Amino acid sequence: MLDAVLLWIKRNEKNSLADVKTWLAIPSVSTQPDHDQDTRAAAEWAVLNLRTIGLDTQLIETPRHPCVLATTPPALHPPGAPHVLLYGHYDVQPAEPLDQWVSPPFTPTVRDGKLFARGACDDKGQVHCHLAALLAWRQINGQLPCRLTVLLEGEEEIGSSNLMAVVQAHRDLLASARTLIISDVNQFAPGVPALVYGLRGLAGAELRLRGPNTDLHSGMYGGTVRNPANALATLIAGLHDKNGHITIPGFYDDVRPLTALELEQWAALPFSETDYARELGVPELWGEAGFSTLARKWARPTLDVNGLTSGYQGPGGKTVLPAVASAKITMRLVPDQNPQKILDLFAAHVQRLTPSGVTLEVERHGESPPALTPMDSPAMTAAAEALEIGFGKRPVFMREGGSIPVVSWFKDALGLDTVMVGFGLPDDHIHAPNEKLDLDCYCNGIRTAAALYERLAHHLA
Ligand code: BES
Ligand code: MN
Ligand code: MN
Repeated sequence: MLDAVLLWIKRNEKNSLADVKTWLAIPSVSTQPDHDQDTRAAAEWAVLNLRTIGLDTQLIETPRHPCVLATTPPALHPPGAPHVLLYGHYDVQPAEPLDQWVSPPFTPTVRDGKLFARGACDDKGQVHCHLAALLAWRQINGQLPCRLTVLLEGEEEIGSSNLMAVVQAHRDLLASARTLIISDVNQFAPGVPALVYGLRGLAGAELRLRGPNTDLHSGMYGGTVRNPANALATLIAGLHDKNGHITIPGFYDDVRPLTALELEQWAALPFSETDYARELGVPELWGEAGFSTLARKWARPTLDVNGLTSGYQGPGGKTVLPAVASAKITMRLVPDQNPQKILDLFAAHVQRLTPSGVTLEVERHGESPPALTPMDSPAMTAAAEALEIGFGKRPVFMREGGSIPVVSWFKDALGLDTVMVGFGLPDDHIHAPNEKLDLDCYCNGIRTAAALYERLAHHLA
């Protein structure tokens, strides 16, 4: 039966591509209020699509962007089939800076075998691999191999703050799910499909240093009062030592060391630090002393300035001593660091690093816990087999440096373990100009999704 489904997928590639393009054309930028109607339209698009496949589908309102919840009616799966939950997000990051896109972000365009559009990889394109696979099963078999619930949200890129209330309200339905499937990650490299069993978490804050009550002439006043911009630069410089370690006391206390198995597996991955540096256009790599690049990006916590503002930003110069300086900072966290605890340690530390003569305000932002999922569960075995069918190669096991808050939240709320099977590539430019998904990744992703539901039905039976 799977063979017939895969054949149907092959024959319908053009239709699938046309369909995903219509979704990608909707600018569902969750953070920009101007796009609230578009974001809703992208949710409604998904509702119609899931209804076409035959799922009972509803739009669920939240205080901001709606969720989409769809579930198979009993006629759409074999009696007693295991219940699988698929999560994804239909919102996208802002497309700015627009002038750097070769083709417009919301005019999906194929060039050189790649589909370019905001959301092509993160995450509408990857979710669509599942939608296309489910449609294929429905067309060929009349039903799906598993009992399935699909939950899509429109706020992943802004912290998923309304999702868990929806989960709680539909607890009765979701509690019977046996595994959570997420396709919102990458393969290791072209031709190296991967299963992802770990994610970093996130803890963010905005720092503001205030000095004088107004901007001052830097000649009349310079040298007589503390300059908040100078003070902020010193403070930020104090957050790392010369070995790249973060100086916050207690910051590393809960970091779980890498296992021998992980070290062994990662050493065997086809990774070249030289190529990595060349692709990124940097003269050399930088990071925490004593760790490989893969360990630095997957298993070590970081602290980065994401935005830095003070004083005059326009063309030319302006001799001003600014009244305020601010920095947006995020820390990527690893198991078993707790975002709230880390933010407490961070706030106390930056307070200690603040010199006299300026005052500090700390505003806390998003929090996402880190996650590790079992590598040897039946659902992981099913996903490994599905990737082998879909991509023609056995997957490697890897972690990712990015964050998906729901992985840990679903574990806490429902005891559900997640299987992360991604179809993207590291050079897909997610969150950046010219985001893309290679068409062969898209097509192999559809194949993998089709095989996954069949393999899950087998291994979870
Ligand atoms: N899909 C990404 C997460 C991701 C990126 C996983 C790369 C693996 C590799 C997700 O949409 C995302 O961007 N998450 C945010 C976190 C969120 C709390 C804003 C992130 O990682 O910055
Ligand atoms: Mn994503
Ligand atoms: Mn993202």
